[in-house]
Amino acid sequence: MTRTIRTRAPGRVNLIGDHTDYTGGLVFPMAIDRWTEVSGVVADRIRLTSYHDEQPVDLPLDPPPVSAGWGRFVAAVAAEVRPTFGIEGVVQTTIPVGAGLSSSAALELTLALALGFEGPPLALAQLGRRAEHRATGIPCGIMDQLCIAAAKDGHATIIDCHSFDVSHVPIPGDVEIVVSFVAHRELEASGYAHRVAECAAAELVVGPLRTAALADIAAIEDPKVRRRARHVITENQRVRDFAAALSLEDYKSAGELMVESHLSLRDDFETSTDAMDRTQGEILRQRGVLGARMTGGGFGGCIVSLCEPGAKLDGWRVRPVAGAART
Ligand code: GLA
Repeated sequence: MTRTIRTRAPGRVNLIGDHTDYTGGLVFPMAIDRWTEVSGVVADRIRLTSYHDEQPVDLPLDPPPVSAGWGRFVAAVAAEVRPTFGIEGVVQTTIPVGAGLSSSAALELTLALALGFEGPPLALAQLGRRAEHRATGIPCGIMDQLCIAAAKDGHATIIDCHSFDVSHVPIPGDVEIVVSFVAHRELEASGYAHRVAECAAAELVVGPLRTAALADIAAIEDPKVRRRARHVITENQRVRDFAAALSLEDYKSAGELMVESHLSLRDDFETSTDAMDRTQGEILRQRGVLGARMTGGGFGGCIVSLCEPGAKLDGWRVRPVAGAART
């Protein structure tokens, strides 16, 4: 009998807490109602076509590394899962690709499930992160994969990227979250790896940034590295304050923290772009917008806004959904 396979994984938007995960800091992402799905039947190779790429993928169960295209994610996931069966099927997605909404993490996780991965969300997330490193060489943190693996319907997640603790936080019904696309980006070609290295350089002086105090950074000689450290330390605190503000239904303060986060990423971490700053500024002038910031790795991507219901804002209104699963 033919065994059918059907899996899906959502994208994510990060509400606050960017460029903190790879130093074991705090992040506040939310899985969104846009998904990447794999469907097919069990086969003896991995044969996949995509609605979004003309190039099909056809690989053995133990594939060699693939250096380009979406096949490199398939090869990397297979190398991590070591599947005992393959698939003949189709990949489709409603997540905009290359927009900072974790389309690659969603692909990794849905593929891992399709190829038979069994295990808890943290193990799935760690596998996806290793696959990302293999496929792209980007030294990403755990935020995207862990949010997408562990998300709960109606909730965002606060993740402690040191202990990997995930808390599910309900998103109140009296606010809306809107994602506005600015520009495509390629993290590989961006300064992402540089930022990771600069944070490591800061940690050589002050120890783990997740426990460092703002006063400690005076000891960092290089002014650029000092600014990177200041962003991380203040951003971790903003995640805590944002969580507290949401729980008190103090949406005004939550919005202000998002704006502070944007400014810190713009000025101290330098991961924003002129186009993103312009869009964020325009959004903030709209009636009913409580806060807006760049989201994710930066160097392009999207602006995420916290709004009063009905705010007239161009973009995708996104809803918090459950994590990756067989369907
Ligand atoms: C990308 C990475 C994440 C995280 C963000 C920035 O999305 O994949 O691990 O570092 O950038 O917060």
